[in-house]
Amino acid sequence: MAESVTAAEQRTSLHGHWSSRFAFVLAVTGSAVGLGNIWKFPYVAGQNGGGAFVLVYLGCVALIGLPIMMSEILLGRRGRRNPVETMRILGDEEANQPAWALVGFTGMIAGFIILSFYSTIAGWTMAYTVKAATGTFVGQDAAMLGAEFGAFIANPIATGFWHTLFMAVTIVLVGLGVEEGIERAVRFMVPALVVLLLILLAYAVTTGQFAAGAAFLFEPDFSKITGTVVLAAMGQAFFTLSVGMGAVMAYGAYLPQDASIPGTALAVAAADTSIALLSGLVIFPIVFANGLDPAEGPGLIFQTLPLAFGQMPAGSFFGVLFFICLGFAALTSAISLMEPAVAWMVESFGLTRPTAALRVGGIIWALGLLTVLSFNYLADFKFGRGTIFDNLDFLSVNVLLPVGGLFLTVFAGWVMCQNSTADELDPSVGPMYRIWRLLTRYVAPVAVVLVLLNAFGVFG
Ligand code: TRP
Repeated sequence: MAESVTAAEQRTSLHGHWSSRFAFVLAVTGSAVGLGNIWKFPYVAGQNGGGAFVLVYLGCVALIGLPIMMSEILLGRRGRRNPVETMRILGDEEANQPAWALVGFTGMIAGFIILSFYSTIAGWTMAYTVKAATGTFVGQDAAMLGAEFGAFIANPIATGFWHTLFMAVTIVLVGLGVEEGIERAVRFMVPALVVLLLILLAYAVTTGQFAAGAAFLFEPDFSKITGTVVLAAMGQAFFTLSVGMGAVMAYGAYLPQDASIPGTALAVAAADTSIALLSGLVIFPIVFANGLDPAEGPGLIFQTLPLAFGQMPAGSFFGVLFFICLGFAALTSAISLMEPAVAWMVESFGLTRPTAALRVGGIIWALGLLTVLSFNYLADFKFGRGTIFDNLDFLSVNVLLPVGGLFLTVFAGWVMCQNSTADELDPSVGPMYRIWRLLTRYVAPVAVVLVLLNAFGVFG
């Protein structure tokens, strides 16, 4: 043991370190806050009946997502390499089991799939920035805006163009390297996004349906809880916190040794959850005030927010700002989805960062065309969970992330020796450490296994 502790202490990242703990908090916040909070949370909550889903989601964030986030940071900081290499090194060091590298590898694949559809939706937000700027929403009602959205996603040239642009920007930023750009963007964009959501909240209050919207989100109807709802809530918890595929682990590799892991994880999870709930409080009053369907699906924010921007004072101005901020939030998340694969190619194959970013991004771009087409030419091509997009979403968010997270908790809680985890998390082995260990060894893995088995019908 003594030997490996020394080895762990001596390892340093090959890409430099974050300038401070605060820079790391910003980067992980940038990864966590994105389309998951503003686009996905409201529509998945809407599809799964509201309050009961939200309650399960909050439970999953606290009891599963948070301990896994702490585990990912500690694994990354201890391994100091990309997730594949980190899992290989630590698996070897802790238990002579280098095959743990596979967990890093499948995580990378999950990142490819997620970014492929993420980029398509981020493209929608870019297009909506232009629509807001040109006054498209002014004086429109729900039906007109629904038709507008329908016509937009039916056009693979337009949506494909925005998807391409978003991937190009992501590739350039990842190719240029991690630190400064991300830090600077997050420092302005996340607070700006919160301010804009608060302005939208003020509008939501004036719709007269605020109480109905809040009740939908916060009054659980337990009869609505099914295996699928719980699976969706758990997947959303993983997705919104960016855990289960190694993104946070990749960032942890650049974390200075003296930064507090539990404090960081708590701050990020609290900010991320608040932003999601705020988004829900904006969207649902607009849904009910305009007779829209909460279960509308992926188009929900694109049919509700334009109503607000079309009606409120200075709506075009706020609309442009909002969609720009959302685009940036998506960008800082997209960067983290690519980082594991790019770091892996740089460290293990000696490619330069720009070359690695171009190759990884190219594959993801091509895969993303399937999602672009899922909303038009391939919209009727359905199997499994629905369209190609629905299947990619389900496979990555509801299956690969929880399974990846399961392996990560088992590794951190059962395979690693206690000295190693205590050393990284909380050298004084205080109450924080004991809570983390309890959640990581028992609560999180058992919960993930039960939810997966239940959703796939093992319990009948
Ligand atoms: N958390 C981001 C969001 O809410 C998406 C994201 C970024 C992500 N990195 C990730 C999801 C890693 C899963 C895994 O928009």
